[in-house]
Amino acid sequence: MIDLERLDTRKLPLSYGTERLRLTLNDSRYTEQVVKIRNDPRLNEWIHHDPLTPEAHDQFLQRELERRDALNFAILVDNEFAGVCSLRDIRGTTAEWARLVMPDRVEVRKYAVTVGVLFLSLGYEVLGRASMYCRILEGNRRTRRYVEKIGWRPDPGYDSEIPFDGERRKLLGYSLSSAEWPEIFAAHRDLLAGIVS
Ligand SMILES: CC(C)(COP(=O)(O)OP(=O)(O)OC[C@H]1O[C@@H](n2cnc3c(N)ncnc32)[C@H](O)[C@@H]1OP(=O)(O)O)[C@@H](O)C(=O)NCCC(=O)NCCS
Repeated sequence: MIDLERLDTRKLPLSYGTERLRLTLNDSRYTEQVVKIRNDPRLNEWIHHDPLTPEAHDQFLQRELERRDALNFAILVDNEFAGVCSLRDIRGTTAEWARLVMPDRVEVRKYAVTVGVLFLSLGYEVLGRASMYCRILEGNRRTRRYVEKIGWRPDPGYDSEIPFDGERRKLLGYSLSSAEWPEIFAAHRDLLAGIVS
């Protein structure tokens, strides 16, 4: 099990997945593409949509790299940028899966569910989490359907509220325990096999 307290993740060339689809620690190589998708109104309706500049993104990444409880990834399909996603609150026995955005192109989105399963694999099999959780704005129906398709279970224990567009909005919590992971893995085995060959 990786103990983030003892590893200097700032220097790790951390990468997880296969040549077809992998997660790799996000750095300024991907800034232009990250800024492009984060400023796309079709993609950021349900995430913070204040305009993002390359400088602000690089400063965010720098701050995040100093943290011991967060890992920010670029998603790569055939070595091409295919979105971003993070693990945060990597503390105790849990972690939050967060900030997933993928460009809306079929050659990328066809891997959306596989990306979700890869993050669970990273959390349970590499980081040794006992449980993980995610939170989605109530109105983000597409992403709610997506996480439910993967197998995440609604967990009101993680429900919360955030200020969003000047209002208090409800975040719906979902969680999964490591005991449930083998069943999720089995259900998506073919998808994972599809990125190996
Ligand atoms: C989160 C996100 C990556 C999930 O991807 P998604 O496309 O919504 O997920 P879906 O389950 O609907 O899509 C995957 C499926 O649709 C298909 N698909 C998705 N987009 C497609 C497109 N443009 N054309 C054809 N097929 C498409 C995929 O092939 C896949 O098929 P499957 O059902 O057989 O697995 C995406 O919705 C996103 O980036 N949203 C914006 C940011 C956001 O709100 N993030 C969440 C923050 S909590």
